[in-house]
Amino acid sequence: FGFAAIGVGGGAVALLTDGNASKASAADATATLNIPDLLEGTSSDGTVTYTLTAKTGTGEVLSGVTSTTAGYNGSYLGPTMKWTKGDTVLLNITNTLGDDTTVHFHGAHIPPKMDGGPQNAFADGETWSPTFEILDEAKTLWYHPHALGTTAEQVVKGLAGLIIVEDDSDVSAALPSEYGVDDIPIILQCLAVDSAGDIKYDAAGYRLAGVTFPVLVNGTNVDATTLGFTATKKRTRFRVLNASPSDIMTVQRSDGGTLTQIATDQGYLTEATEVTTIRLVAGARAEFVLDLEDAVTLQAVVTTGWIRGGSGTYDFLTVTPDATDTPADLPSALNTITRYDTSDFTARTITLGQNGATMLINGSAGTTMAGMAMISTTLDSEEIWTITNSTQLEHSFHLHDVPYQVIEINGEEPTGVNLGWFDTFEVVGGGSIKIAMKFTDFTDDTYMYMLHCHLLQHEDEGMMASLMVTES
Ligand code: C2O
Ligand code: CU
Repeated sequence: FGFAAIGVGGGAVALLTDGNASKASAADATATLNIPDLLEGTSSDGTVTYTLTAKTGTGEVLSGVTSTTAGYNGSYLGPTMKWTKGDTVLLNITNTLGDDTTVHFHGAHIPPKMDGGPQNAFADGETWSPTFEILDEAKTLWYHPHALGTTAEQVVKGLAGLIIVEDDSDVSAALPSEYGVDDIPIILQCLAVDSAGDIKYDAAGYRLAGVTFPVLVNGTNVDATTLGFTATKKRTRFRVLNASPSDIMTVQRSDGGTLTQIATDQGYLTEATEVTTIRLVAGARAEFVLDLEDAVTLQAVVTTGWIRGGSGTYDFLTVTPDATDTPADLPSALNTITRYDTSDFTARTITLGQNGATMLINGSAGTTMAGMAMISTTLDSEEIWTITNSTQLEHSFHLHDVPYQVIEINGEEPTGVNLGWFDTFEVVGGGSIKIAMKFTDFTDDTYMYMLHCHLLQHEDEGMMASLMVTES
């Protein structure tokens, strides 16, 4: 495939060691950006079949210290999948973790029985084979486990991968799309690790003495390393996922310049938008392009982090152009987003709460399927939800399957990139947001979805409810 073997050296610690990456000799001056493998599918009769194995492994999150990790088809993270709108995909996913797992296709519009919500766990030794048509337009999704009570543990150990959805629109054709060449995945994570290399995943673990909070980019520790990437096209597209269990990641340029943001969680913005920062809560994605003249260094600012007790700024990637092409102008319009007129929408209130260490939605702890609050609605309903945060903690509000528009943020109307489509959005301590969505365009007849906080330990501690959509 179209990218060269990736060398890693210069003291950087990379966990993607049995995929495309190899540890280079100490003579290497710099470490290069790991690019997760692209998962090749096999096509027949209009169905593309993919094979994934969830497995345990080992790697070095901290230099010289072995950690127990997990990954799909490798020891850490998973390969990137490319799905094409209109195709049918079949995934054969084998669990060798020694524990139940699920695989959730975060942000995909697919029937719930084909999506690994917590009701669809499968055991060690089993293979789960969901199949569905890709209804989504071009966007960046991701996949990760979602079993009750073990989501944080499985994700932080490395079970996460990107999904690129492609479509045949003129806009998609005009944007960089050569994976690993001018279309670059960036998976950001802030983990919690003790000096023995044990990756922590709950509040008790985060607070232990000696735990540090390394920042990883595509599986490489960037605490003391700036990775390098040589761009062979002047225009380079970046798809950024914040796969952290808790922290907010803000991406910016070290020189204070602008990034040209083209997409939020659920696809293209109406137009390319110059921004100086891209703030991603846990679970969120964004896409931007850079038209490179000189080298650009990207920074990640890690904030909130009630787990890590402080913020930090990491120069994680220097992109150096080695290109002579002249990119065409970006399309002047990327998408048509008709803002919902919510005056006739059904209103609902979702309260994010807390009772000691138990996290609640509408007063119920979703630590068991029976215990979680269930919200019922009917097919084709149009709704506006007020998400009220009655805690002083930051939350990241995720709704499965259905993209939403953000109508209000702490009483203010959204502007700029917040006028895009989302599935995961920040709710600050004591704050509130209003979101609007339509439960349309389904291809199945039973619909049990999840809504939850994407701070993974909050989800495991109960901040999750189910949503039942029934035929009216
Ligand atoms: Cu990415 Cu229900 O989660
Ligand atoms: Cu939360």
